[in-house]
Amino acid sequence: MEVEANINSEKLPQHVAIIMDGNGRWAKQKGLFRTIGHENGTKAVKETVESCARLGIPYLTLYAFSTENWNRPKLEVDTLMKLLVSSLKKEISTLQENDIKLHAIGNLDALPGKAKRELQDVIDKTKNNTRMTLTLALSYGSREELTKTIQEISLKVKNNLISPSSIDESVINNHLYTRDLPDVDLLIRTSGEQRISNFLLWQIAYAELHFTETFWPDFTKNHLFEAIVNYQNRERRFGKTSEQIEN
Ligand code: FPP
Repeated sequence: MEVEANINSEKLPQHVAIIMDGNGRWAKQKGLFRTIGHENGTKAVKETVESCARLGIPYLTLYAFSTENWNRPKLEVDTLMKLLVSSLKKEISTLQENDIKLHAIGNLDALPGKAKRELQDVIDKTKNNTRMTLTLALSYGSREELTKTIQEISLKVKNNLISPSSIDESVINNHLYTRDLPDVDLLIRTSGEQRISNFLLWQIAYAELHFTETFWPDFTKNHLFEAIVNYQNRERRFGKTSEQIEN
């Protein structure tokens, strides 16, 4: 297991995104309800957020609830929403002490009123923090985001506000939920699954992918350090040759 000392602070990923997977299996393995898995997942969220801030990673994005997760049993959806509210209430002090700004992406209107209000409250209270931006993807789906983006741009074309030929990557970027965030450098997924599950499809175009067998509730700062060291040992070529990168 990697330790913090092995991390090169000059080569940190600027944006780490995490698909926090395996809460249900973690609980099942222990003979517990799935919801207990989610509760324990919040501990891993806290440790990861604090560790990223301390390392100096400026952007961390967590896939907390997908558009598809609405199809889970009502009890589980309700528990996840309650956990969101209780975690926001409990951890606002952690965000303030660590100078972390909270941000959210996704179809936030779909969230229950209480969750929406609590989220907005913490976003407002932390808006002047500058050390790290923590983004929660909530009721988020990349296809929904891209569909909405295409609708908005089409409307602008229809109303002669922009011409089709002026639509470039930056125009598209500026219509995404992630318009204020840089591209993802490192995407981590826990629990052994090796898929993207409709998360940040546009934004991970050049991300390095790191998969770990560890279930999310067991994910500790050492797993995070391991992912970062692994990322730092890769050569990111962005379509160029090794020689071009060296020069
Ligand atoms: C995936 O595990 C995890 C989720 C769908 C929710 C993630 C939520 C948390 C970590 C807790 C709340 C978060 C915040 C930010 C307060 P799974 O249920 O899909 O696990 P499985 O694949 O083993 O069934």
